[in-house]
Amino acid sequence: MAKYFKYKSIADLLAENDRLGIDLQFDTDLSILFSSITVAGRPVGNRFCIHPMEGCDGELDGAPGELTFRRYRRFGAGGAKLIWGEATAVNLSARANPRQIVLHEKNKGLFARLVQECREAHRQNFSSDQDLLFGLQLTHSGRYSYPRPQIVAHDPLLDPKTITDRSTGAVVDENYPLLSDAELEALIPDYVQAARLAWEVGFDFVDVKQCHRYLLNELLGAKNRSGKYGGSFENRTRLAREIITAIRNEVPHLILTTRMNAFDGIPYQKGPDNVGEPVFTPIPVENGWGIDPSMPVLAQLAEPIRWIGEMQSLGVSLVNITLGNPYAQPHFGRPFEYPPPDGYESPEHPLVGVNRHFKIAGVLQETYPNLPMVGTGYSYLQEFLPYAGAANIRNGKISFVGLGRASLAQPDLIKQLADHGVMDRKRICRTFSYCTAMMRAKDHPLGQYPAGCPPFDKEAYSEIWKEIQLKQKDKKEK
Ligand SMILES: Cc1cc2nc3c(=O)[nH]c(=O)nc-3n(C[C@H](O)[C@H](O)[C@H](O)COP(=O)(O)O)c2cc1C
Repeated sequence: MAKYFKYKSIADLLAENDRLGIDLQFDTDLSILFSSITVAGRPVGNRFCIHPMEGCDGELDGAPGELTFRRYRRFGAGGAKLIWGEATAVNLSARANPRQIVLHEKNKGLFARLVQECREAHRQNFSSDQDLLFGLQLTHSGRYSYPRPQIVAHDPLLDPKTITDRSTGAVVDENYPLLSDAELEALIPDYVQAARLAWEVGFDFVDVKQCHRYLLNELLGAKNRSGKYGGSFENRTRLAREIITAIRNEVPHLILTTRMNAFDGIPYQKGPDNVGEPVFTPIPVENGWGIDPSMPVLAQLAEPIRWIGEMQSLGVSLVNITLGNPYAQPHFGRPFEYPPPDGYESPEHPLVGVNRHFKIAGVLQETYPNLPMVGTGYSYLQEFLPYAGAANIRNGKISFVGLGRASLAQPDLIKQLADHGVMDRKRICRTFSYCTAMMRAKDHPLGQYPAGCPPFDKEAYSEIWKEIQLKQKDKKEK
């Protein structure tokens, strides 16, 4: 198994830059990470964002569960001033798994408790929560909905990888129905209702999610769909535009944000020696967003740039930039040292993946210097992530350092940095992919195991991880 991360110093990383022909920047003056910034007229006290990360630990009716509350108390106490609440489905059939949270009228009291507990934990550890923004990601899982895919376009690359029936392994074929224009339109009130409830229970913002090839992201790339939601740029962005406009009109004080793929990329599969290789891809590639159709391993940012500009004029005031598809191409979104169970060994040096994240986000942030953006891809850098974040912010390449897996391992890493100048070395995410492995474990009585960090959050996850492993062993032996 390839092992890449052997760096003891920034000098080692800079030497690797030269070997790999990439351009990661590091700055040891971390003060900029603790400077404040304004988002939609609200002060945000530092430049750390906890990325949205599902714990798959909700109740079957969509309410947050005890582990959900625990996660946001820990994030609240951890010191980030921007907490981007996880994927929250806009209706029960829009979920990606049976334990994804769903905000609706009957469970809104529990979401109010979630906001209160997160803010309370923050206040107990810091003087004030006035400069903390806490929002919620509104999602429709589209192709990855549970129990059945809800697709908006036939994608020749993704259909053969999209499971319709777990017991038989059947996949989407050409007869699988597309969501109609009327079905898509009917989702607008669901987004508005979720946004209204989010505002009522105390969230500061909602994210109209357009990433990771879930529904609105698939629509952005649906060049082969006919009708008013497919084909041209205007049509492909129409549903998101309608949703954003409707929320703006109906819940005017709620801050609007989006997490958007800047580049979808193409699916990979296990090749010889378990190393990932791109699936066979007829050129020009039919669908996809931010892709160069004749060279789909390369990004083409003209449409994402245009769309960000339009969204800004529709009232979106914060954009979280991400890439790829966690099911079809895990090395893109989450550069890793150890692959997830349904993945493959990284086909590129993971630092090349980190560099891709930073370069693409940098181009977008430089295009819109007055629109705050959150960057992705930092966790792979382990203890060096703050230095890369400081350099990227200072160079105008991003406004916020987004923390995914690193914050599951060490939710208080910002506090650690503020108090000691370094992260706690004993709890640094080493990109083992346990968290993703837990997300993929379905063999639970409720249909989904919770996801967290077994190596560094033993209290909550080590027993759950043991159970998952036992079940998998039993299955193999049968
Ligand atoms: C367990 C887990 C759950 C995730 N859930 C979400 C989610 O709800 N919404 C989302 O946009 N991304 C989700 N992601 C992706 C992360 O937000 C982030 O983009 C990714 O982990 C890469 O950032 P990192 O390198 O800092 O980990 C999830 C990732 C993990 C590992």
